[in-house]
Amino acid sequence: MTCTLISTPVERVSGTLCVPGDKSISHRALLLAAIAEGPSTVTGFLPGEDCLATMQALRQMGVPIEQLDATTLRISGRGRDGFRAPDQPLDLGNSGTAMRLFTGLLCGMGIDTRLVGDASLMRRPMERVAAPLRQMGANIVTCDGKPPLDITGEQRLHGIDFRMPVASAQVKSAVLLAGLFANGPTRVTEPAVTRDHTERMLRSFGQAITHSGAQVTLEPGAGLVGTAIEVPGDLSSAAFFLLAGALSAGGELSIENVGLNPTRTGILQIFKLMGANIEICEHRGAAGEPIGTLVVRPGDLVGIEVPPELVPLAIDEFPLVFIAAALARGRTVISGAGELRHKESDRIGVMVAGLAALGVEVEELPDGAVINGGALQSGEIDSGGDHRVAMAFAIAGMAAEGPVTIRDTANVATSLPGFATLARSVGLDIREYSDD
Ligand code: S3P
Repeated sequence: MTCTLISTPVERVSGTLCVPGDKSISHRALLLAAIAEGPSTVTGFLPGEDCLATMQALRQMGVPIEQLDATTLRISGRGRDGFRAPDQPLDLGNSGTAMRLFTGLLCGMGIDTRLVGDASLMRRPMERVAAPLRQMGANIVTCDGKPPLDITGEQRLHGIDFRMPVASAQVKSAVLLAGLFANGPTRVTEPAVTRDHTERMLRSFGQAITHSGAQVTLEPGAGLVGTAIEVPGDLSSAAFFLLAGALSAGGELSIENVGLNPTRTGILQIFKLMGANIEICEHRGAAGEPIGTLVVRPGDLVGIEVPPELVPLAIDEFPLVFIAAALARGRTVISGAGELRHKESDRIGVMVAGLAALGVEVEELPDGAVINGGALQSGEIDSGGDHRVAMAFAIAGMAAEGPVTIRDTANVATSLPGFATLARSVGLDIREYSDD
């Protein structure tokens, strides 16, 4: 199915909303509950296509998962050795997280599998996970560094001391998950802080993890024990509405029950540096993750040099940073963000092309862009099949000179099903059309 979004300018957004569950945490809840002993419950699960692909793959390997309602799961953990080899390749759709985390888990468990995905996933780099896992003794074959991935699982893995060349939570998580099945401790050192949901959730399932500076160490224990996981709302989804609230001419927008893990909150810092008025109210914790309510009020945005050290802490929100920059007063420089080229699309190339199509003066850099803020014209852009690019340009439409049409938007359902309806509930005018 192909879809189009049309976003028409509005002056004001206001109200209260909740965004669906966190995608990273939902994947991890499924995977860890599946290898734990005993039952687990997951509430606030994201029923987006990416996480449903993870759920389907686990079912193919014999993991019983009951979906009590759209966001509540009961998972009967199969323990360390309880998966059966699937008789078909595992199709992980659009999800890089699912493919990389499954690779670590399956070579640890010793399951023969082939991992495939959609056209976007089949183009994404997988050597970054295959290389350290091979050092641990795994047998993984890629196709020129890309999927399909073939895992032959009879090897017993051994722990390694791995210094990650790229700041990637997916790579860190894959190595740690394999480490659960290895002889001896596994150590991972990251070049910059990346999201730590895997480490936090492993602790909730009873697995000890220690930290020393940038190094995390996992020594396999007796195995994971089923537990209850509450998934907070996804800050990456909330971020679209934060920008909408900042661009509004009046009113106030509250987003409740949002995950505020400090390894994810770089976007709050970037928006605040740009002049957004964002307040964090109420704070609580659940299953090792901080949760709060965000309130955003109108603010005059100004261009900034985005601090490169915030890039890994806001890695999924950069499509929105491009849009904020295009609507801000003055010049914004994004650098140190070359990883954006390896996401669901080449997010630097696709965002630069989209902004240029809407009349923005923008210069593409190998690792970012220089954007001169000003007015956004009405026009049509191509999302490159990338959910976050599509939604970022839909937010841009509220402040453009006329409607913005965004092509190839079906993948919005991978991370934020119901986006257009949710957006209309707070005053945005975003409509979704099926092209079939
Ligand atoms: C994710 C980590 C990030 C992020 C992705 C989800 C995760 O990727 O872009 O959307 O759940 O671990 P990298 O860690 O590869 O940068």
